[in-house]
Amino acid sequence: MTDNPQRLKNQVALVTGASSGIGAAVALALAAAGAAVAVNYIGHPEGADAIVRAIELAGGRAFAVRADVSSEDAVHAMFAEVIERYGTVHILVANSGIQQDARFLDMTLAQWQRVLDVNLTGQFLCAQAAAREFVRRGMQPEVSRAAGKIICMSSVHEVIPWAGHVNYAASKGGVMLLMKSLAQELAPHKIRVNSIGPGAIATPINLTARDTPEEVADLLRLIPYGRVGEPEDIGKVAAWLASDEADYITGTTIFADGGMLLYPGFESGG
Ligand SMILES: NC(=O)c1ccc[n+]([C@@H]2O[C@H](COP(=O)([O-])OP(=O)(O)OC[C@H]3O[C@@H](n4cnc5c(N)ncnc54)[C@H](O)[C@@H]3O)[C@@H](O)[C@H]2O)c1
Repeated sequence: MTDNPQRLKNQVALVTGASSGIGAAVALALAAAGAAVAVNYIGHPEGADAIVRAIELAGGRAFAVRADVSSEDAVHAMFAEVIERYGTVHILVANSGIQQDARFLDMTLAQWQRVLDVNLTGQFLCAQAAAREFVRRGMQPEVSRAAGKIICMSSVHEVIPWAGHVNYAASKGGVMLLMKSLAQELAPHKIRVNSIGPGAIATPINLTARDTPEEVADLLRLIPYGRVGEPEDIGKVAAWLASDEADYITGTTIFADGGMLLYPGFESGG
């Protein structure tokens, strides 16, 4: 990685679920690298507005755009708004995700379906809308060597099971082959598609797993590198993966997990 502060200059990025946690850090990192950023949120706008303000205070460009990524109409309206505002889009970070935890014997169809709808269908819908815009616009060699970049927020749970979270693990396993299949299908259009697979990152999604010192100690035992990840750890990877420095990378998950995947006996975590 270089510290070229403007490696995403003249590029437009859309980051979903960017009002908190990893998405917020990704939005800030892409903006710091020079991209204009559409900050997607659902629910209350305060978090997204704070990220937009932080980007603007640092001299960047951003705006907040509401959409439920599991709704096709909402996703299409969101892309239309981004394109109307900034002319096009070059980078999608499909980051939105939820957990609805339950033991398998008790899991309801609604818990299964909602997690699949947001974590997997949401990525399909956003990736399709982004790819259609990349293909429509074509190459812009003065802006980037790729016609467009899609980054899916996956998890270490795309490759390891997670008892008590089968809906989440199934959604992230689906994201892995969605990403790889898209990378294959979209490569002729010079569109790069990759995932980031975070380990345990300190964000709202897993707050309850870090409630007590004992729970933190349990978590740290799973992380050879000896610390829980910060959202900024993932923001930096996203800014690099979106840049031309990663131009020959497509169809790959970059795991940012402090070595979590090195433990074959791993069975719980982020
Ligand atoms: N924190 C971790 O340890 C960890 C580990 C691996 C993967 N991840 C993944 O990282 C991503 C971000 O999670 P986070 O840890 O920052 O938690 P988070 O709860 O802060 O972020 C999730 C974001 O998704 C948004 N969201 C939820 N449903 C949505 C919908 N229907 N439409 C649009 N946005 C929606 C939320 O508002 C929130 O901003 C998720 O995909 C998660 O699965 C997190």
